[in-house]
Amino acid sequence: MISCLQTLLLMGAQLVLPGRVLTAPTIPVNFLYHDFLSGNANKEIHFSGVKLRVDPAQATVFAVRGDNVTLPCRFLYEPELSSPREVRIKWSWLPAAGGHETDVLVAIGSRSRSFGDFRGRAQLSRDFPGDAALLMTRLQSNDTGRYRCEVVDGLEDKSASIDLELRGVVFPYQHPRGRYHLSFPGAQQVCEEQDSSQATFTQLLQSWKEGLNWCNAGWLADGTVQYPITRPRVPCGGHDLAPGVRSYGKRHLNLHRYDVFCFSSSLRGRVYYLQPSRKVNLTEAQQACQENGAEIAKVGQLYAAWKFSGLDHCEAGWLADGSVRYPITRPRRNCGPSEPGVRSFGFPPPQDKHGVYCYKSEDE
Ligand SMILES: *[C@@H]1O[C@H](CO)[C@@H](O)[C@H](O)[C@H]1NC(C)=O
Ligand SMILES: *[C@@H]1O[C@H](CO)[C@@H](O)[C@H](O)[C@H]1NC(C)=O
Ligand SMILES: *[C@@H]1O[C@H](CO)[C@@H](O)[C@H](O)[C@H]1NC(C)=O
Repeated sequence: MISCLQTLLLMGAQLVLPGRVLTAPTIPVNFLYHDFLSGNANKEIHFSGVKLRVDPAQATVFAVRGDNVTLPCRFLYEPELSSPREVRIKWSWLPAAGGHETDVLVAIGSRSRSFGDFRGRAQLSRDFPGDAALLMTRLQSNDTGRYRCEVVDGLEDKSASIDLELRGVVFPYQHPRGRYHLSFPGAQQVCEEQDSSQATFTQLLQSWKEGLNWCNAGWLADGTVQYPITRPRVPCGGHDLAPGVRSYGKRHLNLHRYDVFCFSSSLRGRVYYLQPSRKVNLTEAQQACQENGAEIAKVGQLYAAWKFSGLDHCEAGWLADGSVRYPITRPRRNCGPSEPGVRSFGFPPPQDKHGVYCYKSEDE
C-alpha cells in the first residue's frame, strides 16, 4: 500500500482523477494524500484489490427510425461488493457519419443530464444494480454510430462500446443527367431529397453482404468513394479481383463527381401504386397522389417499402424526383431481371405517361 501511494505521489504533478482533473500548480500535493487516505469510501477501491468491470451485452443494436432503443451496458465489481457504491456514468457518441466524440449523457448517483440533440431523448435505465443501459427515444437516422458507456468509481475508469445501426436499405442514386454528376454536397442533398441520408461504410458493407452488386462508384457519408462488387466481371475491375467493397479512397468533395449511395431506413406509412383512370404525365401524377390524400413517393420511400413491406408491382410509376421505377420482390417473366430489385427507367421526359407511386404517412 505504501509503494502504491508513493507511485501516486510521484505521478502527483499530473494526477488525473476521473471525473475531475486536478492540475498540480493549484492543488497542493498533501491535499491529494489526504484525499486518498480519508473517509471517502469511493476512493478506497483502488487499494483494496476490487476490480471494476464494464460489459456491453451485445456488440451492435439494430433499430428503425422513430423507434425507442436500449443500448445495454452493465458494470460489476470483482469480487462482488456487499453494498452499492456511487459511480459516475457517462455515455458518449462517435457519429457514424464522422466527426468527434460528443457527450450524450452524464449521471452521478440518481442525477443525470443529457446534452445537445439528445436532450429529452436519452436516459439511464437502472433496472437492476449495475445497470447503466441508455434508453433513447424517437431515434433519428443520423443517431447511428459508436456509443461508449464509461463507468468511473474513484480511480477506476472502465468503458465499453456498442454500435447503433438502423435497419434500412442502401440504394445507388444517379443524377438525372446520368453517371458521375454529383459532388459530395450535391450527393448529400439528393439523398435528403429522397427521404434518405448518405450511406455510411458500415451500411454499404452490410448491403454488399446481402448481395448488392453495383459497378458505379458512389460517395459515402465519410467523403470516400466506393462500390460494392459481389460478382467480379471485366468492366468492374476485372475477374481477378476478389468480390468486395472497392474504394477510391477520399476524393475532393467539390471537384470530383460520382454517383452516391443513399440509405433509407424502414418507415411507418405506406407506399402504393396508384392507377389513375388513364396514364398521366409528371405534374398530373403529383396531383393524383394529392387528390388521394397522399404525396408522390420519394425514391428512398419506394426502396424502403420494397425491402421491408415486400412491395411488388410490375408497372412503372412516377416518383418525386421525376424518375420512373417499379419494385419487384418476386421476380417473374416480363418484370425485369431474375433478381428482386427496384427497376428503373431513369428520368423520362415529364410529358411521358405512366402510373404513379404515392406515399401516405402513418399519421394521415
Ligand atoms: C417511445 O417512448 C415514448 C415514451 O417514452 C412513448 O410515448 C412512445 O410511444 C414510444 N415509441 C415507440 C415507437 O415505441
Ligand atoms: C439529425 O436529424 C435531425 C432530424 O432528422 C435534425 O433535426 C438534426 O439537426 C440532425 N443532427 C445532425 C447533427 O445533423
Ligand atoms: C401534363 O398535362 C397537363 C394537361 O393535362 C398539362 O397542363 C401539363 O403541362 C402537363 N405537364 C407536363 C410536365 O407535361
